[in-house]
Amino acid sequence: MKPMNRALSALVLVAVVTAGCVSSAPPEVMDETQRFSETIELAEPELSGSSSLEQTLEERRSTRDFTAEELPLDTLGQLFWAGQGITDDAGHRTAPSAGARYPIELYAISASTFMHYLPEGHRVEQRTDTTTLSLLSAAAFQQGFVSDAPLVLVITAVPARTEAEYGAVAHDLVNREAGHVAQNILLQATSLGLAAVPVGGFDPAEVARLLALAPGEDVLYLLPVGYPAAADGS
Ligand SMILES: Cc1cc2nc3c(=O)[nH]c(=O)nc-3n(C[C@H](O)[C@H](O)[C@H](O)COP(=O)(O)O)c2cc1C
Repeated sequence: MKPMNRALSALVLVAVVTAGCVSSAPPEVMDETQRFSETIELAEPELSGSSSLEQTLEERRSTRDFTAEELPLDTLGQLFWAGQGITDDAGHRTAPSAGARYPIELYAISASTFMHYLPEGHRVEQRTDTTTLSLLSAAAFQQGFVSDAPLVLVITAVPARTEAEYGAVAHDLVNREAGHVAQNILLQATSLGLAAVPVGGFDPAEVARLLALAPGEDVLYLLPVGYPAAADGS
C-alpha cells in the first residue's frame, strides 16, 4: 500500500473506531476566569424552516449592515443549534467532526452578555459582559461593523481533543471543521432573514484575551449577526 493510502486507512480506522464516542470539554481548559454565573435551557430547535436549502444557498450573502435590535434568545439558540446542535442519541452533531472528537466551542457576545453554548441539553451558560463587544472591532483590525452588530458568534477550538487521536494533523482538521460550523450558522442565519458575515481578519490572541479563554483554546472565526439594515441605511 502506498504511504498516502496507508495514512488514510489509519485515519479511517481511527475514525470508525471513535465515531461513536463523543468527547466533552476537558476540565483543565476551564479556569476561574471562565466561570459563568447562570445556565439557561434553550427552546427546542425549529426543524421546519420556511425556505428550502436551495433557496437559502442562493440567498446567502455576506452582509455587514445591521440594525441595533437585539436578537431574541430563541434565535440565538437556533444559530447555536445549527452550528453544534446534537442530532442523535449517540451525540453526533449538525456539523461533521473528524473522529467525532468535537473540538469546536461556540460563544456569543452581545452588548450585555457573554454566552457559551452547551450542546448537551441544548443550553447556554452566561455571564454579564458589557465591554467585550465594543472592544472587538479593534481586535478585528478596526472593522467597525464587528462591534456594530448586536451579536457576534465566536467559533473556537480545543485542538487537544483532536490531537489525542490524530496528532500533528489535528490543527488542519480543526480548521476544516470550523468551516463546516460557520457555513451551517451562516445558512441558518440566511434562512431566518438575518444578516451575517464570516470574519477571519482579527488578532486571535487578542480576542482570546478579551474572552478570557484558557490556554489551549484557539479563536478561529467571528460571525457578526443581526437584523439587516434597510438598503437606504436606516
Ligand atoms: C475565511 C474567510 C475570512 C473572511 N474574513 C472577512 C473579514 O475579515 N472581513 C470581512 O468583511 N469579510 C470577510 N470575509 C467575507 C468575504 O469578504 C466574502 O465571503 C466575500 O466577499 C464573498 O462574498 P459573499 O460571502 O457575499 O459571497 C471572509 C470570508 C472568508 C471565507
